[in-house]
Amino acid sequence: MQIIHTLAELREQLAPFRHPAVVPTMGNLHDGHIALVRRARPLGDVTVATIFVNRLQFAPHEDFDSYPRTLQADCEKLAAAGCDLVFAPSEQELYPQAQTFKVHPPAALADTLEGHFRPGFFTGVCTVVMKLLACTQARSAVFGKKDYQQLMVIREMVQQFAMPVDIVGIETHRSGDGLALSSRNGYLSAGERSQAAQLSEVLSSVAQALRAGDIDFPSLEVDALQNLAAKGWKPDYVAIRRQTDLQTPQPGDALVVLGAARLGNTRLIDNLEV
Ligand code: PAF
Repeated sequence: MQIIHTLAELREQLAPFRHPAVVPTMGNLHDGHIALVRRARPLGDVTVATIFVNRLQFAPHEDFDSYPRTLQADCEKLAAAGCDLVFAPSEQELYPQAQTFKVHPPAALADTLEGHFRPGFFTGVCTVVMKLLACTQARSAVFGKKDYQQLMVIREMVQQFAMPVDIVGIETHRSGDGLALSSRNGYLSAGERSQAAQLSEVLSSVAQALRAGDIDFPSLEVDALQNLAAKGWKPDYVAIRRQTDLQTPQPGDALVVLGAARLGNTRLIDNLEV
């Protein structure tokens, strides 16, 4: 497996390939990321993982500085998973000058849910993903459904810009107790970790109520928020949305339940399709 830090070398190494399959990441890889790499392998003639902690998608008060950077361990996992090439640029390499051209996703999709609580987040994500897909000349790119809204925003961006990339989403990987795998789980204390699956449990109980025919969405959302708060969480949102565009559902729509909440200082997100 090649580990590459510069665009010039990336272009040279990728020149012989017609169909790069790319997994964009911020590193600190867990089994969920490795599943993305395994999914990517049959999709192209070369499998590329990118590792870049993207300052543009972090607000000043967020965890950009403390975000775990574990390049060597990440590369060992990627090599074992059969990744061919890792592109891990420095900030100077990817953003040699201030990135003043940015991709602003539409408010209806990107200013709700995560975008409401993390203003500018999806502009940062779209800008870096657009750039990474261009740098790697991706023909397929794989993302996790844990970041459900992110996946949707990226799909829409690629479609509206007619980018020649298939966007593939894969199911969320979970620990035995149901906690969705996330690099941020590493911030949890032992006590918090033992509580952390409560987020997926609460979303599951909303999903169960929906399956049982409950259509009082506002009450289900409020009950879930109260339930989380009673367990010591600080919830940002629990929302029942339409799967296709994350808007308020109409009768008969396929649904997804999304939630974000803080346990101590750690903000976790999760979702369940119904
Ligand atoms: O999901 C992530 O890890 C990041 O948001 C991404 C897609 C790699 C862009 O920085």
